[in-house]
Amino acid sequence: MKELATTELYRFRSPELIVAGNGALDALGAHLSVLGPLERVLIVAGSSMVRQGFTDRIAGQLEGLGISVRLLSGIRPEPTAGDIEALRASLEGESFDAVIGIGGGSALDAAKLLSVLLTNEVSVVDLLGVDLVRNKGIPSAMIPSTSGTGSEVTPNAIVTLPEEELKIGAVSSHLLPRLVILDPELTLELPKEITAATGMDAFTHALESFISNKANPFGDTFALESIRLLSRSMLRAYERGDDLGARGDMLLGSMYGGAALTASGTAAVHALAYPLGGKFNIPHGVANAMLLPHVMEFNREAIVDRLAAAASAMGVDTAGRSAAQSADAAIRQIGEWTRKLAIPQDLRRYGVTEADLEGLAEAASKVSRLLNNNPKKLELADIRKLYGELLP
Ligand SMILES: NC(=O)c1ccc[n+]([C@@H]2O[C@H](COP(=O)([O-])OP(=O)(O)OC[C@H]3O[C@@H](n4cnc5c(N)ncnc54)[C@H](O)[C@@H]3O)[C@@H](O)[C@H]2O)c1
Ligand SMILES: [Fe+2]
Repeated sequence: MKELATTELYRFRSPELIVAGNGALDALGAHLSVLGPLERVLIVAGSSMVRQGFTDRIAGQLEGLGISVRLLSGIRPEPTAGDIEALRASLEGESFDAVIGIGGGSALDAAKLLSVLLTNEVSVVDLLGVDLVRNKGIPSAMIPSTSGTGSEVTPNAIVTLPEEELKIGAVSSHLLPRLVILDPELTLELPKEITAATGMDAFTHALESFISNKANPFGDTFALESIRLLSRSMLRAYERGDDLGARGDMLLGSMYGGAALTASGTAAVHALAYPLGGKFNIPHGVANAMLLPHVMEFNREAIVDRLAAAASAMGVDTAGRSAAQSADAAIRQIGEWTRKLAIPQDLRRYGVTEADLEGLAEAASKVSRLLNNNPKKLELADIRKLYGELLP
């Protein structure tokens, strides 16, 4: 296992206040002072949050405190840069003291981007990259409704660029929310398929952070607890969506996964997932889940001890097993989950053919921000081969 040199510094940024637990949504009003004095607030919401009445519950609390509310809803899943520009244009001439994002990663990322676009007169694409946001945004609160992205605690926001057939992130401490509300009751109606895909996204954040070249004690702590909680409850939440305990584990595990990736960064799984989302619209969690066992098998020789430690956290029986055997068992377990969670194993289902492999590999090879975190270097041929394994 990689040991840190004593001269190495590591750091962790996080929101100012996180309130978690069943019914936490109703405590929002009591914690709003973290956002500063408020007269007018923008709520950016996924459509399911409006439909299920959660935005009404937020508006009710705010209006009860004399705060006026503007609701922007119907955020499309995996938004494009153009979608974000259209949302911004719809707010032309309006001003807000804070933004509240509620929904899946797509709605939260849209809310985070809007919070900085309202104070930076640049286009969304100008923000894509690391540390390109100049001015602080307006203060934000994030309330996740999927247990997947961990976006509520990350300084990242991801958009799709359809012309370039890629997904790409803006990374900036100005994207970090001030307040986070984690209420598992918001996730009770999450459909099975989305529970599976988002749960595997969260697990990928934790495992990739744990084996990242930038792994460090902060990231490791969050990653191992994330792996433990998600492994314990993933199948239960999938099979029994109304199990509040399992939903609570998933939501907390997903937040810890976001914290782990904030500290240590994700790696090749995410780099290879982005072109699958950008070009073939494969949902982010599905793309990650398909790739995860294959990329871990590729990395295996460089990370045997780390995979063995992950196996213990996953609850895999490691008694009497060597590190190598435990590492193999961890990879096998991930493959078994994806089958039990009915996550497709074949890219052809999404229209990918052999003719696409070269283009996909070239697109992924450009995601150097994440590939640099991978414990084993990937050549173009390695990437092509990994995608090829998903065309059985
Ligand atoms: N910012 C980050 O750090 C980060 C990390 C990973 C992924 N992402 C990005 O987040 C996006 C994906 O987010 P996601 O996986 O959470 O999915 P999502 O937000 O796209 O939501 C998926 C679907 O689930 C529905 N939904 C959400 N919550 C629901 C609920 N409680 N009940 C019923 N339906 C619900 C949505 O309406 C949508 O149709 C991608 O663009 C991905 O690239 C961001
Ligand atoms: Fe992710």
